[in-house]
Amino acid sequence: MGPAFLVAIAGRPNRAVAAFNAGCYTIAMLQGNALLSILADGEFHSGEVLGQALGISRAGVWKHLQGLKARGVEIDSVPGKGHRLGAPIELLSEARIRSGLSEMARVRLGGLEVHQQIDSTNSELRRRASTLSPPFACFAESQSAGRGRSGRAWLSPFARNLYLSLLWRFDAGPDALSGLSLAVGVAILRTLRRIGVTDAGLKWPNDLLWRGAKFAGTLIEMSGESCGNCNVVIGVGINVRMPQALGGAIDQAWTDLATITGTTPSRNRLAGTLLSELIEMLAGFEKTGFAPLLEEWRRHDIMFGRPVTVSTVHGAEGGISRGIDAGGALLVEEGAIIKRYLSGDVSLRARDGDLSSAPCGASTEARA
Ligand code: ATP
Ligand code: BTN
Repeated sequence: MGPAFLVAIAGRPNRAVAAFNAGCYTIAMLQGNALLSILADGEFHSGEVLGQALGISRAGVWKHLQGLKARGVEIDSVPGKGHRLGAPIELLSEARIRSGLSEMARVRLGGLEVHQQIDSTNSELRRRASTLSPPFACFAESQSAGRGRSGRAWLSPFARNLYLSLLWRFDAGPDALSGLSLAVGVAILRTLRRIGVTDAGLKWPNDLLWRGAKFAGTLIEMSGESCGNCNVVIGVGINVRMPQALGGAIDQAWTDLATITGTTPSRNRLAGTLLSELIEMLAGFEKTGFAPLLEEWRRHDIMFGRPVTVSTVHGAEGGISRGIDAGGALLVEEGAIIKRYLSGDVSLRARDGDLSSAPCGASTEARA
């Protein structure tokens, strides 16, 4: 597999050189990736065999193994046996993601790329927005500076989770985008349903939780004129199989799909499904806005009816969450009034802090 990877790169010199010039890959990273594709089977491979496969010395193999470890890849090295991955991994493949796209998404998609490592897929698409043909999808195996809202960090270890950004161009201007963050949450819920997860919850405006623990989030960034064309980068991070040791760096309860489903879902299949659901949802959203998705969002609202604290730049206020309005704004009952919050830099927390028993999927009638 390793040499085949190198041949594929060598057989398409322009692409490889272009990628190299664009700073996407270094020679060391290409060899490191070829090494990874050999190790992906989870079996032991001796340094000698790896060196022969890559056409490099054993010392070269050792150097690349250290490089992979520095990228967050867990490798067991056992004297007399060789090297193997801490756990078998399924690397993302552009072809496999494409083969999982719905017909509509396949026709509509303007481009798709998979990076081994990048600072942030959102940052990448923002840098190149004017030169790309939307909808354009950018996946990465790892992010060195993955971002959440308000400058917070998104932990993005190698080949464990999904990191996707999708560039979309809206003609109607930023005002038509209200509720977009919530609509993306619905597209993720639909993706999860296709792998059997029906009890995920939504926390306004951008988080997905399961039994009180966060496993996915979205970051939407836009640029453009106040009326007219508007480039939107929709970033989605979903934990598929987060290493326990790394999760210690996350300062809130977290989980992943492996824990939720009891198995490790195929990341390529999940990537194709997520991209399809996003494209289909966005094609509808640009025509009809958030309204048709409102009830679906409400059915998964884990904060509804709970005492909450809402933090804004002006400070924190408490009240009872009354869900969302038709535009996707958060409604909070504070004494005799109901206050309306637009997403921006607003942060919502349950006042008792424990969402592990928060219901989701409750009927909308119960909320009327
Ligand atoms: P809110 O969205 O309500 O403002 P938040 O704390 O979830 O609150 P976000 O900006 O949405 O803030 O998400 C970033 C936060 O998510 C980080 O500060 C960290 O607590 C958590 N986090 C970072 N990486 C991951 C990850 N891979 N999985 C789960 N949670 C993560
Ligand atoms: C959040 O919960 O605050 C949002 C997390 C969004 C993470 C995704 S991963 C792909 C994309 N690239 C980024 O840097 N962030 C988003």
